Amino acid sequence: MERVHSLSMMSRFLLLHCLILISLFIAAATANTSTITTDQDALLALKAHITHDPTNFLAKNWNTSTPVCNWTGVTCDVHSHRVTVLNISSLNLTGTIPSQLGNLSSLQSLNLSFNRLSGSIPSAIFTMYTLKYVSFRENQLSGAFPSFIFNKSSLQHLDFSHNTLSGEIPANICSNLPFLEYISLSQNMFHGGIPSTLSNCTYLRILGLSYNNFSGAIPKEIGNLTKLKELYLGGNRLQGEIPREFGNLAELELMSLSENKLQGMIINFLQFYSCSGCDETET
Ligand SMILES: *[C@@H]1O[C@H](CO)[C@@H](O)[C@H](O)[C@H]1NC(C)=O
Ligand SMILES: *[C@@H]1O[C@H](CO)[C@@H](O)[C@H](O)[C@H]1NC(C)=O
Ligand SMILES: *[C@@H]1O[C@H](CO)[C@@H](O)[C@H](O)[C@H]1NC(C)=O
Ligand SMILES: *[C@@H]1O[C@H](CO)[C@@H](O)[C@H](O)[C@H]1NC(C)=O
Ligand SMILES: *[C@@H]1O[C@H](CO)[C@@H](O)[C@H](O)[C@H]1NC(C)=O
Ligand SMILES: *[C@@H]1O[C@H](CO)[C@@H](O)[C@H](O)[C@H]1NC(C)=O
Ligand SMILES: *[C@@H]1O[C@H](CO)[C@@H](O)[C@H](O)[C@H]1NC(C)=O
Ligand SMILES: *[C@@H]1O[C@H](CO)[C@@H](O)[C@H](O)[C@H]1NC(C)=O
Ligand SMILES: *[C@@H]1O[C@H](CO)[C@@H](O)[C@H](O)[C@H]1NC(C)=O
Ligand SMILES: *[C@@H]1O[C@H](CO)[C@@H](O)[C@H](O)[C@H]1NC(C)=O
Ligand SMILES: *[C@@H]1O[C@H](CO)[C@@H](O)[C@H](O)[C@H]1NC(C)=O
Repeated sequence: MERVHSLSMMSRFLLLHCLILISLFIAAATANTSTITTDQDALLALKAHITHDPTNFLAKNWNTSTPVCNWTGVTCDVHSHRVTVLNISSLNLTGTIPSQLGNLSSLQSLNLSFNRLSGSIPSAIFTMYTLKYVSFRENQLSGAFPSFIFNKSSLQHLDFSHNTLSGEIPANICSNLPFLEYISLSQNMFHGGIPSTLSNCTYLRILGLSYNNFSGAIPKEIGNLTKLKELYLGGNRLQGEIPREFGNLAELELMSLSENKLQGMIINFLQFYSCSGCDETET
């Protein structure tokens, strides 16, 4: 009697173990399926927001009968099968950018440059924690600099140049994007002062703010950005003197300050190259 009882206990115990293992396996499998499906949904949402695609780029294979990782312009990680790169640049695409793009949680590089995308930039781009590169250069995007809804982004390269963005640079930009090496906001309609807090982006090598409507003095704290190689501030309404602290910028190779209301000579122990055309070509 005892024996039979313990045997049945044993088999129940084994059965329970089996069930747990099976449900764990199913959970793992569905977890992966749902993440791939999430990427697919995000990209299909993007496709649905494109109203004109003159080269029929997305019509080729952006559909559910082709695996997402085979779609043109999409690159996946070989192990996780998650989307890591999205490069649909230089296609003259018309449309808007949906916030669903923020669901691409393994994305490292997002290139939508040289299209005709309009509307605002969703703040969801700052919620992709793996993202290092973003270019929305040369579109027709408007509205303010997207707000930070989470704390820190891994972004190193941010290019919003040649759009019609407006408003001010958020003062807390460097507490949210502390790893920035490259930022260009050139050729937009931003206004207000250049925040002195930009000096907290200590990795910054390229800073492009030319051809906007920035006003006030150039903050002397910019002189703290000792890794700075290129600085573009031309074509604004900046006033006052060029800060002496710029003498600390030992790595600086290119600087443009043309078309402002600045006074004073550039400190002569640094050699600067005159670079009035750089604003269009370099940033
Ligand atoms: C889906 O993509 C395939 C290429 O992988 C293409 O042959 C097919 O025509 C597409 N289907 C639709 C409905 O667009
Ligand atoms: C997807 O790409 C892989 C690797 O390039 C290839 O082996 C496979 O046939 C492609 N699948 C489809 C449905 O195009
Ligand atoms: C699920 O994805 C992880 C990486 O995100 C991978 O290591 C694992 O092998 C995948 N599991 C299955 C069942 O595909
Ligand atoms: C992105 O696409 C453009 C246009 O097709 C191409 O010139 C560029 O090399 C691509 N970038 C990468 C990193 O593949
Ligand atoms: C982004 O697209 C532009 C235009 O096609 C290209 O010049 C640039 O190299 C691309 N960058 C990346 C990282 O894909
Ligand atoms: C995009 O538009 C420009 C100007 O209309 C044109 O020169 C270029 O060839 C177009 N590119 C594509 C990929 O359609
Ligand atoms: C994708 O993003 C949208 C909008 O940001 C959100 O409402 C939705 O819940 C997300 N979907 C998934 C599967 O994460
Ligand atoms: C962001 O950081 C602040 C201050 O460090 C903290 O209070 C807040 O909870 C954080 N928010 C998120 C979403 O992590
Ligand atoms: C900038 O950095 C300083 C020193 O690390 C810190 O005290 C300050 O709060 C930071 N300011 C912003 C706006 O991130
Ligand atoms: C720049 O700012 C001034 C003063 O606020 C305003 O009158 C002017 O229209 C602005 N220019 C542009 C291009 O936004
Ligand atoms: C930044 O620059 C200011 C003024 O030039 C200086 O007082 C301050 O100590 C510097 N901060 C850091 C963290 O280097």
